[in-house]
Amino acid sequence: MSNYPQTRLRRLRHHPQLRRSTQAVRLSPDNFVLPLFVRAGEGVRRDISSMPGVQQLSIDQAVVEAREAQELGVAGVILFGIPDQKDATGADSWQPESIVPRAVRAIKRAAPGLLVVTDVCLCEYTSHGHCGLVDDRTGRVDVDNDATLELLAKQALVHAQAGADIVAPSGMMDGMVGAIRGALDGASFSHLPIMSYAAKYVSAFYGPFREAAESAPQFGDRRSYQMDPAADPAQALREVEQDLEQGADIVMVKPALAYLDILQRVFERFPGVPVAAYNVSGEYSLVKAAAAQGWLDERQVALESLLAMRRAGASLILTYWAKQAAGWLAGN
Ligand code: PBG
Repeated sequence: MSNYPQTRLRRLRHHPQLRRSTQAVRLSPDNFVLPLFVRAGEGVRRDISSMPGVQQLSIDQAVVEAREAQELGVAGVILFGIPDQKDATGADSWQPESIVPRAVRAIKRAAPGLLVVTDVCLCEYTSHGHCGLVDDRTGRVDVDNDATLELLAKQALVHAQAGADIVAPSGMMDGMVGAIRGALDGASFSHLPIMSYAAKYVSAFYGPFREAAESAPQFGDRRSYQMDPAADPAQALREVEQDLEQGADIVMVKPALAYLDILQRVFERFPGVPVAAYNVSGEYSLVKAAAAQGWLDERQVALESLLAMRRAGASLILTYWAKQAAGWLAGN
């Protein structure tokens, strides 16, 4: 194909304008979704030690962040709730007056142009920190898939009624998309999109998030529901296919950086299906820590990472850098 010396690809890199003009992959704030951790109180901004620059926020402060994000052109926010009380079933998660629905209403009022996405899961609400009801009937402690579905559907419906623009189930239960779709359609929310965390892997890169969301499992791990990193990549395609058949509109691959191969396969295998990537907490913290030592340039590394996700096919990127990255792209 390229027979040197007739072909010299470096000619395409000689002039800065020619480099810009031949770029095929672009980053825009339209691609970014900012995660927000919301808790009770007023004027609360609690630092998360492992995620410099990210805080748990009371609703009034989440509103401030959301307004800033909207001004910067960021596409949306995704809300994670830290409830006042947890119990075995995560009952707080489907109360209309719990933290997420209240935050949705406040943010929709303050920043109506922003997409308000809600994470639908039980792990922040259960005392044991698992993503579903824990069942020990068999003597083997495990999350009960089918009993969990109904609770996820109730939670999603409460988010929809509060005004969420997209609901995003993240618990990796089989059938979760179908159960939520059914509940939404049965309550006049057939227009509301579902963004499914379709291919979500067991990952140590979630470590800092569990501090942020106070959602670390109190026993065991998530290996019986999240995907095995060493599983055949085709299993991720089966996960995506199932979710699409159940009515998912957008499918997510998570984490992003260590799973760009999966992201690209999903993108190529399902043309026309928007793919989201979650640039997870550990991916953020790594760069923050190295940048604090002066070992890496945070801005360049973050933008290069986000660009890699776009190149692999992501149209939406959930990232803690959303506001900063939008600012960098605008030249600040
Ligand atoms: C679960 C959930 C997790 C993340 C988003 N939703 C954590 C987990 O599965 O333990 C991780 C996000 C991150 O690491 O930034 N509801």
